[in-house]
Amino acid sequence: MKVLIYGGGAREHAIAWKISQSPLLTKLYLAKPNDGFSNLGEEIEFSGFVDLANKSKQEGIELLIVGSEDPLVNGIVDEFKKLDISVIGPGKDWAMLEGSKAFAKKFMKDNDIPTGEYLTINNKSEIDEVLNQFSIPVVVKADGLAAGKGVFIAQSKDDAKRTIEEFLDGKFGEASKNIVVEEFLEGDEVSLISLWDGETLLPMIPARDYKRLLEDDQGPNTGGMGAYCPVDLKKEEQTEINEYINKLEAALKRENADFAGVIYSGLILTKDGIKVLEYNMRFGDPETQPLLMHLDSDLLVLFVKAAKKQLKDVKINWKNDMTLCVVVAADGYPFSPKKGGYIDNVRQIQLKYGVQVFYAGVKQEGSKLIANGGRVLSICKNGQYPHQDVYKAAEELEYMHKYYRKDIASKVGERV
Ligand code: GLY
Repeated sequence: MKVLIYGGGAREHAIAWKISQSPLLTKLYLAKPNDGFSNLGEEIEFSGFVDLANKSKQEGIELLIVGSEDPLVNGIVDEFKKLDISVIGPGKDWAMLEGSKAFAKKFMKDNDIPTGEYLTINNKSEIDEVLNQFSIPVVVKADGLAAGKGVFIAQSKDDAKRTIEEFLDGKFGEASKNIVVEEFLEGDEVSLISLWDGETLLPMIPARDYKRLLEDDQGPNTGGMGAYCPVDLKKEEQTEINEYINKLEAALKRENADFAGVIYSGLILTKDGIKVLEYNMRFGDPETQPLLMHLDSDLLVLFVKAAKKQLKDVKINWKNDMTLCVVVAADGYPFSPKKGGYIDNVRQIQLKYGVQVFYAGVKQEGSKLIANGGRVLSICKNGQYPHQDVYKAAEELEYMHKYYRKDIASKVGERV
């Protein structure tokens, strides 16, 4: 089977790495990979989604896997569907579950899916009346995609008002012309990534990511500084998650969500039970890196079954123990990450510590890789206690601007 993967982060590297192990694969193609994993397939150059779909058809590509949200919201899937190429990912219509917070909230409320209370604002004259209905802290979200920067937790009404005004004034362009104001929820977060085939929702094991830049969950939000799986849930939490999955599956069927893809539920375990914080319509980054290392089943087979509406009765197999992933970012991330700096000894640390490295912000310069800002790479390992090897590898990684958190999954086994 000829397969195309779209995207160039560590998540897409992990997908390409896992798909490459499938006996079903005859040839892998990559659209916009980074230079750290472009050797895993043949790169396709293209000028837009229509061009990419046409070239894919000519090459005989049978399946497209889309890594990130922007191409989904911008309609890549719709172009491939027109040419009868199977896709893992929704069309523009259902990409809205991630592309519009207001759409997602309405979907949850309409389908009795537990989530925080919310109201929407698209005019400054509504701000005071809306804010009066919430206590502090209160969450302000830009409705559309804002590269993970469109969520603000306000500690006073004045802060909330100022933020809403900035958003409505176009801080994120069209994405912040509509605002969701939401009840603040407290609890541990769990990322639950599921496969969906249009009829059956098949959950993977729960994962946890660490969004804050600094240890002890301090500092600004980032794209994610590390992750691990599985998350050890209490029995009653697992029961609630099972009930939630049934409810979401019924809701998707009722609303005729006819696509094959990945649905990421960002859950929070509150004292009143589990609630949904957000939906993403793709794999999470960095959760995908440990999840796919922990996966013992053939990912391509799972995708093919999803594309053929055959997920019913599928059982996913997982490795034992846990899988840990630590993200190495560039100093200055997330606001002004330093660019440049050779990444010298990845092969050596992989061999010495048995870790797997997935590349993100890197590019080739001559015969070497250099960092290209942001999150640079992920270091992952499966095992009973992989922390020591992952952290030794991070410590010995030769890259002058490296920054990483040293407390990822440090309390696994304890409820944090
Ligand atoms: N880890 C969160 C995300 O992928 O959006």
